Amino acid sequence: GSPFLAYRGKELFLEDCSLDELAQRFGTPLYVYSQAAMLAALAPYQRGLAGRPHLVCYAMKANSNLAVLQTFARAGCGFDIVSGGELERVLAAGADADKVVFSGVGKTRAEMHRALDAGVLCFNVESEAELEVLSQAAVDARRTARISLRVNPDVDAQTHAYISTGLKGNKFGIAHDQALAAYRRATELPGLEVAGIDCHIGSQITTSGPYLDALDRVLDLVESIEAAGIALHHLDLGGGLGIVYTDEQPPAADALLAQLLQRIDARGHGHRMLMVEPGRSLVGNAGVLVSEVLYLKPGEAKNFCIVDAAMNDLMRPAMYEAFMRIEACRLRGHGATVYDVVGPVCESGDWLGRDRALAVEPGDRVAVLSAGAYCMSMASNYNTRGRAAEVMVVGGQAHLVRDREQPSELFRGERLID
Ligand code: LLP
Repeated sequence: GSPFLAYRGKELFLEDCSLDELAQRFGTPLYVYSQAAMLAALAPYQRGLAGRPHLVCYAMKANSNLAVLQTFARAGCGFDIVSGGELERVLAAGADADKVVFSGVGKTRAEMHRALDAGVLCFNVESEAELEVLSQAAVDARRTARISLRVNPDVDAQTHAYISTGLKGNKFGIAHDQALAAYRRATELPGLEVAGIDCHIGSQITTSGPYLDALDRVLDLVESIEAAGIALHHLDLGGGLGIVYTDEQPPAADALLAQLLQRIDARGHGHRMLMVEPGRSLVGNAGVLVSEVLYLKPGEAKNFCIVDAAMNDLMRPAMYEAFMRIEACRLRGHGATVYDVVGPVCESGDWLGRDRALAVEPGDRVAVLSAGAYCMSMASNYNTRGRAAEVMVVGGQAHLVRDREQPSELFRGERLID
């Protein structure tokens, strides 16, 4: 459990805010985040890297609300971005471009140009073809693109197949045995400057073994690349550290970093600038989705608890069969019933939780926990449902950080044909 989320009496609080009261004030579905919880999640990364040149680049795809980005920018973080849209967002939140790394297998020329103009710190390049295009874009813009190659270490992150990225069969990164040749090519290209090396093996990783294996593979490469006369300044270890959704036991970030640093130092790489790209572990357990119970629908095979949030608001259960805890925002005296908690969207895959014991009545509110990462940022407008409002609690005060989307906004850019 999070120290920021707890029942006080019968009511569920995030910091000093009753979630039921926030729901009354701002409506539902409602995302609520704790800024203190985000900063508390960042602290072990900062502690783990203290005393060394480093940059924690928040992987903003996990939650890209401007106020979230602002929180991390003010805390000194850099950012890992994967699109031109994310670049505009993070600049709008006040981040410095020179702390931004640009990842992704399919960067367009237009995105490269914009990132070069803004002056991003580094492009994490994922193929030889991308090296050629990026060099050309940089020459055209009369700039130099600092690059690292994202290498695919071919280790099994032991996580869900959809979020495992460091295996040979994945689309990500440059194969280990092609990396040296790709670095050689990069040094020949006029628009590029080799800055470092990068690796990211997957997400929701709950043991340190895959990280250590990947690190060893990457350090082998670093040694052969430098033996070939190509200097590498930084080492980017990627993101991927898991969080507790139910009974997982992921290592703490500082404990994981201590293990990695011990290996890095032992192999004589302790002088390098270190970068990490955590997303989920910084925000996942800092947020909840509050939703109102609309109807209870008892049945022979299943009882359904129909709530006003749906797969368009939170698609991790529908997409990955992800388990996310669901709790009543106000405890009732009566006994619980086992429900499938489902939304109003017209799909059988529209569920938030299966076989959950809940004591609720229509009009009550429930909170989906661990909903700070990959929830709002993956929301859609399916069924022409406006996206939820977002609130950030800062020092006990609730701030509306995103308005609820209104129906008219959903078809504003569309046209009838005359
Ligand atoms: N760096 C790169 C290059 C990435 O692709 C990702 C995530 C991260 C960093 C951050 O990983 P994290 O620390 O958040 O695990 N939608 C899925 C997760 C997709 C992760 C994609 N890449 C989910 O809801 O579980």
